[in-house]
Amino acid sequence: MKDKLVIKGGTPLEGEIKAAGAKNAITKLLVASLISDKRCIFYNVPDIQDVEITAKLCQEIGSEINWDRDKGILEIITKELKSSYIPQRFSGANRIPILMIGALLGRTQEDIIVPTVGGCNIGARPIDFHIEALKLMGASIDYRQMHHEGAYLARAHDGMHGTLIELPFPSVGATENVILASIRAKGTTIIKNAAIEPEIVDLILFLQKLGAIINMDVNRTIYIHGAQRFYEVKHNVIPDRIEAASFAMAAIATKGRVFIRDLHHPHMITFLNKIRSVGGGFDVRNDGIEFFYDGPLRGGIQLETDVHPGFATDWQQPFVVLLSQATGASVIHETVYENRFGYTQTLKEMGADIELFKQCLGSKLCRYSHQNHYHSLIVKGPTPLFAKDITIPDLRAGFAYVMAALLAEGTSTIRGTCFIDRGYEHLVEKLSCLGADIQRIKPDELITKGCKEANLIKKEPVLV
Ligand code: EPZ
Repeated sequence: MKDKLVIKGGTPLEGEIKAAGAKNAITKLLVASLISDKRCIFYNVPDIQDVEITAKLCQEIGSEINWDRDKGILEIITKELKSSYIPQRFSGANRIPILMIGALLGRTQEDIIVPTVGGCNIGARPIDFHIEALKLMGASIDYRQMHHEGAYLARAHDGMHGTLIELPFPSVGATENVILASIRAKGTTIIKNAAIEPEIVDLILFLQKLGAIINMDVNRTIYIHGAQRFYEVKHNVIPDRIEAASFAMAAIATKGRVFIRDLHHPHMITFLNKIRSVGGGFDVRNDGIEFFYDGPLRGGIQLETDVHPGFATDWQQPFVVLLSQATGASVIHETVYENRFGYTQTLKEMGADIELFKQCLGSKLCRYSHQNHYHSLIVKGPTPLFAKDITIPDLRAGFAYVMAALLAEGTSTIRGTCFIDRGYEHLVEKLSCLGADIQRIKPDELITKGCKEANLIKKEPVLV
């Protein structure tokens, strides 16, 4: 039996939280630290499952790690590679193993073996851009069946070299993999049509401190000249813009008011524009952003997800819940993933008025036009939501369900908390602090972590 959340809806969220460090930054930074043998110290590290999994992955190949979860400080040093074989048990855990290829190709002449990657079930999520780009840089990469499971076997016996890589789509992971591989490659690597998400900029800033020479140019072009020598690094992980936006939407939808300390305004520009266009309130301060209910929400908007600086696909699910509480019909066009509306069926069963479409209901160029995928929707509001027993299918859908349960009349039970634990730090504690009626029930015991208790828990520094 697994944990479940029990949420009684109807309470406005009120109070203050601190933005956690970004999951999609720190996991890549840990992998990037493997490029050198120098000590790296990260601050503002979130206490989430994906960091734990990534830390274990790094330890597997020889990293020494000291993680003080209370202070959010993680120290990592990989003096020598003990192995370049990532065991199958990491297959399906998250998307990080594939980045090991880029990080390790320049550090070892040995074969690098990584299992097929997992992550959320939101579309096919191929890795063809990664493989093609790394091959252009001198790697040879084969897919093999090992112990009845799929694995990639990568090597660069003649070393890696810089070249021009033009990505077919600004993929976050492929951009990161090429950047990682180029740090120890000979010559200059140019990435055109690169992803430029804040987490990629954070990776670049870290690598610059590590010793690399990297320029971000106009038109999604990144130049990487690699590093001659490496340095010790201290690095503050950027705040998690996805976690923060999730809490912001929950605050507005529950007619509450939540201040998110340390949130960076520049990371939230597109999000704030959309919040304003539906009538949500926010106040940007020097030390964070406050979000609040500012009168009835206005629907009737059109929203298309896109790569940064567009509206992030990871903000889409809670935004649909928000729009279910706004007056009028709103149109959402998902252009990043082909299959990211699966979660809406449960929202419909809770009372939301949502209809899915295979056509592109928007004007952005989309890779999924004429492909038979439900990737547009119309949501009409406001509709009351009703409690339900729910099973979470993936991380961001998980928060959308939590948000729907916070709004719903009655008590909802939510299973599949392992997805949420991957990316939302101390979710139950944070929501309790904000006044939500939420409990995490473990098999055989009932744990209600209220605000006070959460603050009192002091854990010893741990080696993961
Ligand atoms: C990252 O995934 C994030 N994950 C995702 O967040 C996020 O949704 C996504 O970027 C887009 O912003 C992490 O950073 C760990 P992509 P990634 O490569 O790197 C297609 C979350 O909830 N594609 O930018 O895997 C792909 O199928 C997660 O935190 C190819 O076709 O995303 C997708 O449709 C979910 N071939 C699109 O590009 C490739 O080789 C964007 O994927 C690579 C990608």
